[in-house]
Amino acid sequence: MTARAEQVLVDLGQRSYTVYIAPDLLWDQSSSGLTPLTRFVQGKKALLVTDSNVSGLYAGQVLSVLQAAGTLSAECHTIPAGEEEKTFATVEGICRKAAQLGLDRHSVLLSLGGGVTSDLTGFAASIYMRGIDFISIPTSLLAMIDAGIGGKTGADLPEGKNLIGTFWQPKTVLMDVNFLRSLPPSEIRCGCAELIKHAILFDAELFQLLEETIGDLLRLNDPDQTARIIARSCRHKANVVSNDEREGGRRALLNFGHSFGHAIEKLLHFRMSHGDAVSIGMVMASTLAVNLRMMKETDALRMKKLLSATCLPLNCPGLKAADILEAMRGDKKNRNGKLRLVIPRGIGKAEIQEDIPEDMILKAIGVHCD
Ligand SMILES: NC(=O)c1ccc[n+]([C@@H]2O[C@H](COP(=O)([O-])OP(=O)(O)OC[C@H]3O[C@@H](n4cnc5c(N)ncnc54)[C@H](O)[C@@H]3O)[C@@H](O)[C@H]2O)c1
Ligand SMILES: [Zn+2]
Repeated sequence: MTARAEQVLVDLGQRSYTVYIAPDLLWDQSSSGLTPLTRFVQGKKALLVTDSNVSGLYAGQVLSVLQAAGTLSAECHTIPAGEEEKTFATVEGICRKAAQLGLDRHSVLLSLGGGVTSDLTGFAASIYMRGIDFISIPTSLLAMIDAGIGGKTGADLPEGKNLIGTFWQPKTVLMDVNFLRSLPPSEIRCGCAELIKHAILFDAELFQLLEETIGDLLRLNDPDQTARIIARSCRHKANVVSNDEREGGRRALLNFGHSFGHAIEKLLHFRMSHGDAVSIGMVMASTLAVNLRMMKETDALRMKKLLSATCLPLNCPGLKAADILEAMRGDKKNRNGKLRLVIPRGIGKAEIQEDIPEDMILKAIGVHCD
């Protein structure tokens, strides 16, 4: 592993793990002989799960690394790419492949791909033989910033997204930022929405750094800088998860922009990307915060400027504010029928509110749609 890999500890007692982030993380074995993989895969049967877009790009190389790390056997299972494939049937397919290859309780499942692949593979790992080791190798920015850390696994039902799943922490997470080079720009933007979310919630300095470097980040001009930024964002998520693994309290802050965003995605039948919807949702929450005198207008403007510089949308024409509010009532994060919203208090600080009058929410939504 490269000596300059960023490391982030997710501190969960006996289930703690380290996230490694660097360009060429998996291939550069100069300093310590082999990657952190060795410790977790040596002498074991490994099944690498990847999707049909990522498979041809990186699976062969990752399988070679697994073999070099001393696995007993290393095989690959490719699932079709796309959220439509995030079903229990795909999880069953992974488990059946594991059974056919003779994986036992000491074997390991690895995911190589975006958030869909890691959610499904983590889910399969949590139920196969009542739970086996799982290692995540995220290849999308969203999976690095968000899905890769925290142990939430899942699959969709026709009735709704992520309605089934488990908490199952990985043994380690390996993020090679050079995987991002093949990611379509729309997917980079999507990951940036979650990155900007972390900065607004927790880290004014990171926000400023993003203001200064967003162009370079979008073009992946500086892989080391990208790794540092991802690590900084991951530290915030790791912190939240360490203190609230099962989302009893603080972890709900990560829902910033998502109550609005999920409603928009649902009303548009998921034709708008998650990142775009979250961007609009964060803007709606910031307008609400300004109207409630909880956030300075200058901070809300900085937010909008950064989102625009990232080519993320601020408004959602074509939807009615009342429909968005109605769809928000169905959010699974609400409690006792009350809307729970994350409201920014400025750049780097936010809180959860449950008692905001609905006419105020409606008014803030209305500013950003017509
Ligand atoms: N578990 C969690 O905490 C958590 C958090 C956030 C999101 N999620 C889940 O993550 C999913 C979204 O993640 P996503 O955006 O990564 O989706 P995804 O896995 O569908 O990946 C997006 C697209 O990029 C492709 N791709 C991935 N890496 C690539 C690469 N390096 N080069 C070229 N193409 C590549 C994929 O094949 C796919 O087409 C959703 O299902 C969401 O529910 C989970
Ligand atoms: Zn999200």
